[in-house]
Amino acid sequence: MKIVTIVGARPQFIKAAPVSRVLRQVAGEVLVHTGQHYDHQMSRIFFTELHIPEPDYNLGVGSGSHGWQTGQMLLKIEEVLLAERPDGVLVYGDTNSTLAGALAAVKLHIPVAHVEAGLRSFNRRMPEEHNRVLTDHAADLLFCPTQNAVDFLVREGLVEGVYLVGDVMYDAFLYNSALAGDHVSILGALALEPGGYVLATVHRPSNTDDPVRLRGILRALEAPGEPVVLPLHPRTAKALATMAYRPGANLHLIEPVGYLNMLALERQARCICTDSGGVQKEAYMAGVPCVTLREETEWVETVAAGWNVLVGADPDRIVAAVRAAAPLETQPALYGDGRAAEKIVDVLMARGQR
Ligand code: UD1
Ligand code: UDP
Repeated sequence: MKIVTIVGARPQFIKAAPVSRVLRQVAGEVLVHTGQHYDHQMSRIFFTELHIPEPDYNLGVGSGSHGWQTGQMLLKIEEVLLAERPDGVLVYGDTNSTLAGALAAVKLHIPVAHVEAGLRSFNRRMPEEHNRVLTDHAADLLFCPTQNAVDFLVREGLVEGVYLVGDVMYDAFLYNSALAGDHVSILGALALEPGGYVLATVHRPSNTDDPVRLRGILRALEAPGEPVVLPLHPRTAKALATMAYRPGANLHLIEPVGYLNMLALERQARCICTDSGGVQKEAYMAGVPCVTLREETEWVETVAAGWNVLVGADPDRIVAAVRAAAPLETQPALYGDGRAAEKIVDVLMARGQR
């Protein structure tokens, strides 16, 4: 059996790594990198650290408007699929690379498997919401990380080919946490004490592209009487350059870090403050309370469990939530048993033999 895997953005390298490791033991995988992310710290570092095989194709699409970027990917992925004629296409998450991969495949009658299916924010202004909904409705196999995700699909009439497998990010978290132990030197390099700092990430367009919201978030991150470390996504770095922003003394702006350094920073943080989907979940996995810089989240179970609080971009709410953040005694298992990748590959193989 031959599977074409489509990745392109940072979180997709992390999600694909555990699946690829298992898949390659039993089937052929052709890895396609759309080139959506291309800086060393947004792409290459993940292939190196996570031992992801070299992509068979790098489409080099790069940055652009949504229509241009998705269109370029669609054209180029179609060429690959025509040349490779795979038995299936595997896509991850909710980026433009996800939608382009799914669309290119279904138009050629190639079955699509969507990993991280069923996630919903119900915020139609998020580009990801359209990518998720459209990909789910195009896909033949829907691999859900949570029961909530399964329930959302059922509400949309999607019941065939739906599998609750757990979250591949939990697989990656468990597998790499042992290795991340070696990366605690990043704390020393940044003069951070374990449990004595806040880790922040900001990259959603709703925050970075709105100067009022971005200034409010930065003001809040400058307020606590403890260090805050903020690895800057290039989108955010560009927005800050436009504002000629100079951070306050406690706020450390750094380059995006690799996954192992990120895990080390997450696991030792007192609190995590983020608008990232993946980082909200990893905060929970690391047992660190999370303050989410959004009005809604796809990862509602972290909020229900009491480990995550939604504060939007209001500086007073952010400061109050960060100060109050504390771990709880109980932490139910929300994201499976760390074997999502094996379950996904089992289903792919069983389907391929029909
Ligand atoms: C994309 C995804 C988002 C995901 C995020 C993960 C879409 C619509 N959005 O958002 O769901 O959470 O990736 O990080 O697919 N840039 C660089 N170097 C790079 C990559 C990007 O400088 O290697 C800059 C470019 O100016 C680009 C901007 O960042 O225009 C945004 O990149 P893009 O991939 O379009 O969207 P993200 O915000 O990264
Ligand atoms: N991440 C990383 N380095 C960073 C920031 C994030 O390795 O500097 C990892 C993070 O641990 C998580 C993933 O990237 O696994 C989340 O990606 P991102 O926040 O870009 O996207 P989202 O999850 O919001 O789609």
